[in-house]
Amino acid sequence: MNDSTLRIGVFASGRGSNLQAIINSIEAGELICKIEFVLSNNSDSGALEIARRYNIPAIHLSERNFHSDNFESSFFQVLRKYNPDLIILAGYMKLIPQNVVTEYCNRIINIHPALLPNFGGKGMFGMNVHNAVFESKEKYSGVSVHLVNEEYDKGKVLFQEKVDISDCKSPEEIAEKVLKLEHVVYPKVLKMIYEKKMSLL
Ligand code: GAR
Repeated sequence: MNDSTLRIGVFASGRGSNLQAIINSIEAGELICKIEFVLSNNSDSGALEIARRYNIPAIHLSERNFHSDNFESSFFQVLRKYNPDLIILAGYMKLIPQNVVTEYCNRIINIHPALLPNFGGKGMFGMNVHNAVFESKEKYSGVSVHLVNEEYDKGKVLFQEKVDISDCKSPEEIAEKVLKLEHVVYPKVLKMIYEKKMSLL
């Protein structure tokens, strides 16, 4: 590793397939990036299991176990300890505390499984998104990578890619197509950031 390696912290709540896609891209030498830690609000998440398998520090941090002030300060303790260049949300289903958003302004990104600003906002995560897209009879869905601010899915969109879903017969088929695209898009966006081909400002 050299000084110019992009150092990231990954926040994830669920199975962790986007985390795995990023790890695969690093292992393949396509992405010059080091995952400093993986943080999850869910102690059973696949993401924490994946992190442990790769000897990446796996941190469980849930608001339920804290008073709110202590929760924020625990977040900061993690960030001070590992000091990532970027925070990557990969299926993290919680709002980031306001003070963290402020301190990491333009340094937190999220992947969303639809074409924002459509099908975003509170409650729009995971299968809820694909159910809504299916019900709207959209011909296209896609992936959005955006900056994170204090509102769900409202930060500046950095990158989008669409996928034809006109042949999908269920929300599950849409989810499968979109997830496949996510696994290509997130490493690609990180590479663009690392190579300074994408600005976060
Ligand atoms: C992904 O589809 C991601 O886009 C979505 O959760 C899934 C996590 O999958 N995120 C959101 O809906 C955020 N609003 P993974 O745990 O397998 O990476």
